[in-house]
Amino acid sequence: MIRSRAPGRINIIGEHTDYNNGFVFPAAISHYTEALFTLNDHDHICKIYSEVLQEGFTCDLRELGIRQKTWENYLVGVMGVLINQGYKLRGFDCEIKSNVPIGGGVSSSAALECSFIFGLNALFDLNLTRIEMARICQKADHQYVGVMSGIMDQFASMMGKADHAIHLDCQSLEYKHHKIELDDYSFFLINTNVHHELASSEYNRRQTECKEAVDTIKSRCNSVQSLRDISLNMLEEFKSQMNSIAYKRALHVINENERVQLSIEALKENDLIKLGQLMYASHHSLCTLYEVSCDELDFLVEQSKSFDSILGARMMGGGFGGCVLFLLKEDDIEAVDKNMKELFENRFGYKPSPLKIEIGQGAVLC
Ligand code: GLA
Repeated sequence: MIRSRAPGRINIIGEHTDYNNGFVFPAAISHYTEALFTLNDHDHICKIYSEVLQEGFTCDLRELGIRQKTWENYLVGVMGVLINQGYKLRGFDCEIKSNVPIGGGVSSSAALECSFIFGLNALFDLNLTRIEMARICQKADHQYVGVMSGIMDQFASMMGKADHAIHLDCQSLEYKHHKIELDDYSFFLINTNVHHELASSEYNRRQTECKEAVDTIKSRCNSVQSLRDISLNMLEEFKSQMNSIAYKRALHVINENERVQLSIEALKENDLIKLGQLMYASHHSLCTLYEVSCDELDFLVEQSKSFDSILGARMMGGGFGGCVLFLLKEDDIEAVDKNMKELFENRFGYKPSPLKIEIGQGAVLC
């Protein structure tokens, strides 16, 4: 029997930069998904059950096609990519449990994929490194779920370290763990519980729009491969030659990469006020330039500006719903939560859900 666990993640800053070869600054959280595996008597048949969803499915390893249900595709995708890469699996039963909120922007999907592949790696002695596993899970997103996600979520879920965030260069996959010391401040999340159907199609569309900006500049500067290679000056130089949407998307990404570096410096200098300002700037840019926010997220971020105990707030993850990440005084979490709930309920007619998180470790066998 094998039991594996992998966490969800927060992202302190660096949003929609990962698939543009940029920088991100995520951390694994203490909420996790757990997968329990036993080999069964079949050569090719696997039975998987999710305790959270109270449903399961059976699949045949010889025919791992795309399925109707997204959660199944995360798992079938991981197995499909492994088999396509020549790894040998055989029949097993798997039971999945989780306390990562689904669709809350803390990457329950990466937690699911990573706990699953981490267990398979042990069950079948696949000898995969953590980074190889993260890449396989990302491929499962691309090939089975149809979302062209970057590497951030799976990387954080695999490589997280308690009390540390990961400064990751998504171009080279070089990374560095940074200790997160916030004195009497803390990160805190409020989940709007909004899930927009269009989130994944808009996500893919943003990549196409970023590519348009890259292609415009590349046609004159051959060396440019991604937004990572484009400076603000270059973007301004080519502004008139690209459509205004592509320009706005690129402007967000270039500035957001810069904000990641500045946030890390701010943390090193213990300048939490600066970090908070960078979080607000990130939100503003995601809202106005990248256009992936929504009324509920904007409302929470706007309201937060009137609380003395909150230094920064921003939408987190892909957008169009999910969570706002706050940087606030730890002692005031309850008061802020209570007030925010009231304000939010008055405006939208329902309560959002608080999510108190700790920075935890990456995938483990347990
Ligand atoms: C989702 C994706 C990540 C990343 C974020 C936005 O969480 O899975 O790869 O692109 O959105 O920063």
